[in-house]
Amino acid sequence: MSAPNDDRVVLVTGGGRGLGPEIARQLVEAGHVVVVAARDAQAAAATAKELGERAWALTLDVTDPESVQAAVEAVDRRHGRLDALVNNAAVNFDAGADPVTEDLEIVDGAWRTNVLAPWRLTQAFARLLRAGREPVVVNVTSGLGSLTRMGATSPAYSVSKAGINALTRVFADALTRDGIAVHAVSPGWTATDMGGAGGRPVAEGATGIVAVVRSPGSWPSGSFLQDGEHVPW
Ligand SMILES: NC(=O)c1ccc[n+]([C@@H]2O[C@H](COP(=O)([O-])OP(=O)(O)OC[C@H]3O[C@@H](n4cnc5c(N)ncnc54)[C@H](OP(=O)(O)O)[C@@H]3O)[C@@H](O)[C@H]2O)c1
Repeated sequence: MSAPNDDRVVLVTGGGRGLGPEIARQLVEAGHVVVVAARDAQAAAATAKELGERAWALTLDVTDPESVQAAVEAVDRRHGRLDALVNNAAVNFDAGADPVTEDLEIVDGAWRTNVLAPWRLTQAFARLLRAGREPVVVNVTSGLGSLTRMGATSPAYSVSKAGINALTRVFADALTRDGIAVHAVSPGWTATDMGGAGGRPVAEGATGIVAVVRSPGSWPSGSFLQDGEHVPW
């Protein structure tokens, strides 16, 4: 019988606020070691402290190449591998914006944090993921990234989430050769700063993401999921 893999090493970006700390909490509860990464050092430290000895804090601005490189070196020194990378950090939910008149700085910002940064992180951690156990990249996406359902709602954000979905397909294909799974997972509408009031509780939104981290082989690599079910691309 194979050994349980509940002590895998998982890095969660955006670990200081919103869904990130809850994803980290559920993973620690399941026995994993969690690298709580946040650009605000104090927020990362606060989350890690709350989660106890199976969590440690890392200062990481996902848009900063030097910060990403330093993160890779820190994880390498401590573990020599990474089993799961959760690209959770995101910005610019531009509800109510009109794509015809929108400030393109907002579009650019969404692209840099929501697409380019996960791309950069996946590149940077590829070597450590290759050394990982049941390695997986989980790209936190949104139902608004579904091209088949897409309209003008939240244009910069929606286009960026379609972008991270495309990134998921591209990397799922490229990393098959290394045995690394890549999935896009939506938490559904969740009551965080981004989601606002009325969404599902944060614990519920995090559960479907945690399930994919824990059991990446339960779906074909390159899946788009919410609560374990496939979402139309
Ligand atoms: N909430 C929803 O209804 C919903 C629905 C579908 C998908 N999602 C997705 O779920 C994920 C988490 O969203 P959320 O609701 O938790 O959003 P949130 O409450 O707005 O939190 C966003 C997180 O991303 C971090 N972040 C932003 N830019 C960063 C950067 N450059 N470097 C490092 N961290 C950065 C923030 O850190 P700071 O505190 O430093 O700003 C914060 O921790 C996102 O990918 C989002 O698109 C959310």
